[in-house]
Amino acid sequence: MNKQWKLPNLKEAQKRTKTPVNIEHSLFDIPECCKEMGKGKNYFIRTYGCQANERDGETMAGIFEELGYTQTLDMVNADVIILNTCAVRENAEDKVFGEVGHIKHLKRTNPDLILGICGCMAQEEAMVEKIIKVYKQVDLVFGTHNIYRLPQLLYDTMKTKERMIEVYSKEGEVIENLPVRRFGLHKAWVNIMYGCDKFCTYCIVPYTRGKERSRLKEDVMKEIDELVASNYKEVTLLGQNVNAYGKDLGYENGFADLLESVAKTGIPRIRFVTSHPWDFTQEMIDVIAKYPNIMPYIHLPVQSGNTQVLKLMGRRYTIEEYKDLFNRIKTAIPHCAFTTDIIVGFPNETDEQFEDTLKIVDECQYDAAFTFIYSPREGTPAARMVDTTPYEVKEVRLKRLIEKVAFYANQNNQKYVGRIEKVLVDGPSKKNSEVYSGYTESQKLVNFTCDKSVQVGDIIEVEIIEAKSWTLTGKQV
Ligand code: SAH
Ligand code: SF4
Ligand code: F3S
Repeated sequence: MNKQWKLPNLKEAQKRTKTPVNIEHSLFDIPECCKEMGKGKNYFIRTYGCQANERDGETMAGIFEELGYTQTLDMVNADVIILNTCAVRENAEDKVFGEVGHIKHLKRTNPDLILGICGCMAQEEAMVEKIIKVYKQVDLVFGTHNIYRLPQLLYDTMKTKERMIEVYSKEGEVIENLPVRRFGLHKAWVNIMYGCDKFCTYCIVPYTRGKERSRLKEDVMKEIDELVASNYKEVTLLGQNVNAYGKDLGYENGFADLLESVAKTGIPRIRFVTSHPWDFTQEMIDVIAKYPNIMPYIHLPVQSGNTQVLKLMGRRYTIEEYKDLFNRIKTAIPHCAFTTDIIVGFPNETDEQFEDTLKIVDECQYDAAFTFIYSPREGTPAARMVDTTPYEVKEVRLKRLIEKVAFYANQNNQKYVGRIEKVLVDGPSKKNSEVYSGYTESQKLVNFTCDKSVQVGDIIEVEIIEAKSWTLTGKQV
């Protein structure tokens, strides 16, 4: 094993101290040796997983472009391929290994091609061991805390023609001076915090992303002001638990106060993900209800409808508390759309406990739900639980759940028929370039016909003509 390598360590990654994290305004720089390193070369990034990872992809793209690289959307033309991975479930990892397999042949035609793996899988001990042993075509592995080191790591890999592995397993800092190349022209992601300290017993994220740490409010607002000045129409504030924003910095009413300041910039649309029910305060509900540019759409992961399962999951709320929160939001913002995340087949979940999950879907009648079969994650407490429920039983549960979710999605969407909705235009739809697509304020996807004068990024009024479970169809009024 190469002595220079820095391998991930889950035990280290799990540690949390009370020491405040460093907020770095000048940590990132491009070493002299790396300047113009990418001249005449192409980079390709594929991102898996959540919006936090998407945003990291934009940071890496920014770094590549500062090094002189050009983006390519076809990996065949790439000199560097980066797979920005997700570790949340086993199938996310399988996809990446499939891709790594495909890329092997590209290295035969282009021996100088560099294949890098980063993101959450790079933070997992077992995954990095597997890459070392099985996937010799991988040249570079770097972790979620090592993105700022990309220029030097790339340089070293090219220069030495040896494999580089650098994964820090630490609480993490906040680095403010990283570049960004945004992929959205009128919609932008803005990190407001990193990491997670909730340690839900099934989840790998607190290990792969480090301690819950907020950006300073003035740094977030500076980024938003720049987006407003560049005519961005929508910002999505990102964090694993945006509701906990500012707690670590001693801010009072951190997220409610931040949301209000962002709303006052006048940016037309503000969204945020993800809200953990535990930290959702009445102040936040009041601010969301007060400002029309905070979109009436909330992703409120429930995970299970059974309090005993929620307890084993370490979710810190009972189903009654969840329902109370849900109802308070619904009362304050009657037109609010809700989505959720649900896990079926948590170790030893009984039929009755699963029925409670179906019941909460009946009660909340979500607009959509992301539903998953529990996937054991090495190093987490749930992965150590003995699980006697057969996989086939879990598959049947998932199928029943998906049917119920689709029923309410359809029922909710039918209510839109005949309504006039404000839609932010994304561009021609995927299937038909004559038809445009965009999202309503409540985050419903709409395909619509419109005037030729309509531009990407416009907010227009669309009459809804038809509704299916996952899309609406309409025409501009
Ligand atoms: N921070 C967010 C969730 C991020 S992960 C929150 O707490 O709401 C996104 C979703 O993946 C989770 O909400 C959960 O439903 C699912 N998930 C996480 N770990 C999982 C696992 N081990 N198996 C199956 N689904 C999982
Ligand atoms: Fe994972 Fe729970 Fe943190 Fe969400 S809150 S990222 S589910 S540990
Ligand atoms: Fe996946 Fe990491 Fe996001 S595990 S869901 S990419 S934080």
